[in-house]
Amino acid sequence: MKGALILPEASAYASEVDWLLGALAVVSALVLALVFGLEFYYIARYRHSNDADRGGVMRKTWGIETGWTAATLVAFFGLFVWGADLYVRLQQPPVGNDVMRISVIGKQWMWKVEYPGGQHEINALHVPVGRTILLLLTSEDVIHDAAIPAFRIRHDVLPGRYESIWFKATEAGTYNLFCDQLCGTDHAAMIGTVTVMTPGDYTRWLAANPASEGLAEQGKRLFVSYGCSGCHSVGAFGGGGTVRAPPLAGVYGHPVPLSNGTVVVADDQYLRDSILMPGRQVVASYEDKMPSFAGIVSEEDLIRLVAFIKSLGAGDGT
Ligand code: CUA
Repeated sequence: MKGALILPEASAYASEVDWLLGALAVVSALVLALVFGLEFYYIARYRHSNDADRGGVMRKTWGIETGWTAATLVAFFGLFVWGADLYVRLQQPPVGNDVMRISVIGKQWMWKVEYPGGQHEINALHVPVGRTILLLLTSEDVIHDAAIPAFRIRHDVLPGRYESIWFKATEAGTYNLFCDQLCGTDHAAMIGTVTVMTPGDYTRWLAANPASEGLAEQGKRLFVSYGCSGCHSVGAFGGGGTVRAPPLAGVYGHPVPLSNGTVVVADDQYLRDSILMPGRQVVASYEDKMPSFAGIVSEEDLIRLVAFIKSLGAGDGT
């Protein structure tokens, strides 16, 4: 039964989350019933006007105490282990080529969605059923929180950080995307829809909403227009100015040695930070020469630039 009051279970983990919450509610209710039941029983039994036997109060009841403590310990620790395990699985972004990465940018007061194919939407997210979707979340201004109750997922959306959540939708339909963090005047209106489509419908939707160029191609254009190509070589494309800058081909996802002796993996966050705060993590054997692009490159353009750098793959780096 799926009435308006019953939230649909539309993702792979939704029913397990519901079972966990149900188990927690049942165990808590049993404890509550036992404690309050005994309380009311003794209130009635030992009320002033009742002449029940009041002797033997000093008798030790080790068995009852140990049993009661052990039973609740096992029950609640079991729920904790189950919950922690589920939480870790929900928080670990899946990896693999079949994972579809979609960027979601929170902004007062809307959700901006960027697809790898270059399409973009406001307050609408379209995904195919049965596919693992990784949402890369960031904010343009304040803290928001992306919540899709039908999928039982929610995650804070933070300015200056890339956070991710993932899901695998199991049922076609239209679901709500809420902002779960009070973020200003129109917080309550910051609502989008998630449309889950069958793979066939999704292909048709993509065909009906063609983008002139993919995210990486858009990034490539920005790479030239922001002047990045003047210094950074990307294999066959550009580079070779007077300033020596690290080559970018093949850098994505690989370890980068820094001038301070540490090594970082060039993920989305590192590349974003390097564009906005280039002096913070300088690549070993290079000079701190790059100007900051903070306030110049928008969050959308950062996503496009990172998509372009990622698309360079493992080039020869020269
Ligand atoms: Cu964004 Cu509340």
